[in-house]
Amino acid sequence: MTSLLHVVGARPNFMKVAPVLRAARGHPGVTQTLIHTGQHYDAAMSDRFFSDLGLPDPDVNLGVGSGTHAAQTARIMTEFEPVLDRIQPDWVVVYGDVNSTMACTLVASKKGIRVAHVEAGLRSRDRLMPEEINRLVTDQLADLLLTPSRDADQNLRDEGVPEARIRFVGNVMVDTLLNLRARAHAVAAPAAHGVAGRPYAFCTFHRPSNVDQRETLGEILAALDDLAGRMPVLFAIHPRTRQRIADFDLGDMARRVTLLDPLSYLDTISLVDQATLVLTDSGGLQEETTVLGVPCLTARPNTERPVTITEGTNRLIPSERSGILEAVDEVLRRRESGDFSPGHPEGWDGKAGERIAAILVSE
Ligand code: UD1
Repeated sequence: MTSLLHVVGARPNFMKVAPVLRAARGHPGVTQTLIHTGQHYDAAMSDRFFSDLGLPDPDVNLGVGSGTHAAQTARIMTEFEPVLDRIQPDWVVVYGDVNSTMACTLVASKKGIRVAHVEAGLRSRDRLMPEEINRLVTDQLADLLLTPSRDADQNLRDEGVPEARIRFVGNVMVDTLLNLRARAHAVAAPAAHGVAGRPYAFCTFHRPSNVDQRETLGEILAALDDLAGRMPVLFAIHPRTRQRIADFDLGDMARRVTLLDPLSYLDTISLVDQATLVLTDSGGLQEETTVLGVPCLTARPNTERPVTITEGTNRLIPSERSGILEAVDEVLRRRESGDFSPGHPEGWDGKAGERIAAILVSE
């Protein structure tokens, strides 16, 4: 008998837990509990992902909601503790790098309950990024570090993590992508948005470093508006970004850009798959575009996902108007010569969930 308690909280966690839940269900004697911390709570940020991904309703929703990092992390810890005491699993399985990941790792490790971290070992080496703090703390404490790429193994070794705690399993989000790509294609989101068969750009921006300062957000919106003069630009807006555009009174700067509410998983993949290019600051989209062979421009000074550059379609660009537009021009030139093809990093093969489940039941 093995009991697994999976913790998810924010949008990027949901596509990572789905393949692990499914694969572990295939092992006899495994019991599973799914805890949602409630870090993300809007239907568009949470419920629609559960239905797209075929996830069961969470057994418990901690309902923590938004707050400062300290307040949100503290609330997750306080609400998670009694649930953990009641369930007493063999493993707490945490995903990615969000506040829920770190908060629940802290609680479980102090109680001597083993923690497995899915997507361990990624490093941007930028401690201004809240996710980097979450990754460092989670990997320091977790008992089992399940890595998506070989660079992650090396990062952990370089930090002195014993080899016995590191297991290379590949990228679990790619399992979800490959599994749902045909269904995403069938939702035909490009047709719904009037861009089927035409060149268009798809974009998302939500990182505090890009959207929390008026000047930076203004530069990004100006670049997108310029690009929208040349091809439709569909911008799926995170609630934080929508709020900042209103706070800074920048709505007029992006008049030609099509602003969309946060999209479901299937709509997102449907649009990304057919896009001429993607502009983003998301972690997950850097990986998804690599697998789909769609050029990706990431407005960040660094990435914790270097294989998307060395083996994929990703490129880092400045968060500044002329730099963004130069990079766009280069992508469009290279596209004309047919210069983009899907990347196949090791272990990005749709079987990472099976490898993770096999390890969890045998340890
Ligand atoms: C979180 C993750 C980030 C991930 C992102 C994906 C951390 C530190 N950050 O950032 O790594 O890339 O999720 O979306 O965990 N809000 C809503 N409705 C919601 C959720 C949030 O309106 O359902 C608004 C609130 O105003 C909130 C703000 O978005 O204050 C930020 O939410 P939060 O969960 O703190 O961080 P994200 O920016 O979403």
